[in-house]
Amino acid sequence: MASPPIIAGNWKMNLLLESSTKLISDLKKGGISNSRARVVIIPPATLLSSIAYQIKDTGVFLGAQNCHEELAGAFTGEVSADMLASAGCNYVILGHSERRMLFGETNDRIKAKMSSAIKCGLTPIVCVGESLQQRESGEAMDAVRKQLEECLVDEVNKNNCIIAYEPIWAVGTGQTAEPDDIEEIHRHIRNALKAKNPNSDGIPILYGGSVKPENASKILVLPEVGGALVGGASLNPKDFLAIINAASGKSEKKI
Ligand code: PGA
Repeated sequence: MASPPIIAGNWKMNLLLESSTKLISDLKKGGISNSRARVVIIPPATLLSSIAYQIKDTGVFLGAQNCHEELAGAFTGEVSADMLASAGCNYVILGHSERRMLFGETNDRIKAKMSSAIKCGLTPIVCVGESLQQRESGEAMDAVRKQLEECLVDEVNKNNCIIAYEPIWAVGTGQTAEPDDIEEIHRHIRNALKAKNPNSDGIPILYGGSVKPENASKILVLPEVGGALVGGASLNPKDFLAIINAASGKSEKKI
């Protein structure tokens, strides 16, 4: 049986206790539990325990936005992968373009974080994607291949990794890549994964970058697209449910 599409909602640095409780309650009312898609909610670290409690028994999974590569120690302000696992997380985003650009995250560190996440039983969602300048100068494929080569552990496989292809120029901008381009680069990613580890078949490759209800169906239907990493639209229950429904091939339920 084909694996279910994955729809992950990256809340970034948004929402407080009350607003997040309201969002989860709206998502539950809208039928988030009945989806064929595997839904992952990725709140900021302060909300992990609260959301873990609210989504237990719903079939929805929990993820974090980052982790430190060490498991414990004098790293003020950081959170380790086993802390995330003990807070109820199954997934962790690594190498998001905002972390690469704003916090100087390197491929080497992302790889170390990936090892640590896998050791703690988390599935890393490793983000790759080219800048506008790389796209315009025809370097998108090479840029993404280099990220995959340098960020992924050698034993990468479908049980320990999800890739999210997020062109940087599409994140939070309202611009999305064209379906033909998405298809081409997802195929390229599939080949690069195979070159890294011949036993890497079936690793889900998500698309991310301004996924909205209006464009979700035509992106999610593409052959190598295993789901979506959704930022802005995951903060709006109606929009997020519409994207989940597009992934499950269902029509919307009123909330
Ligand atoms: P966006 O963000 O959907 O708001 O473009 C995607 C992401 O950053 O993962």
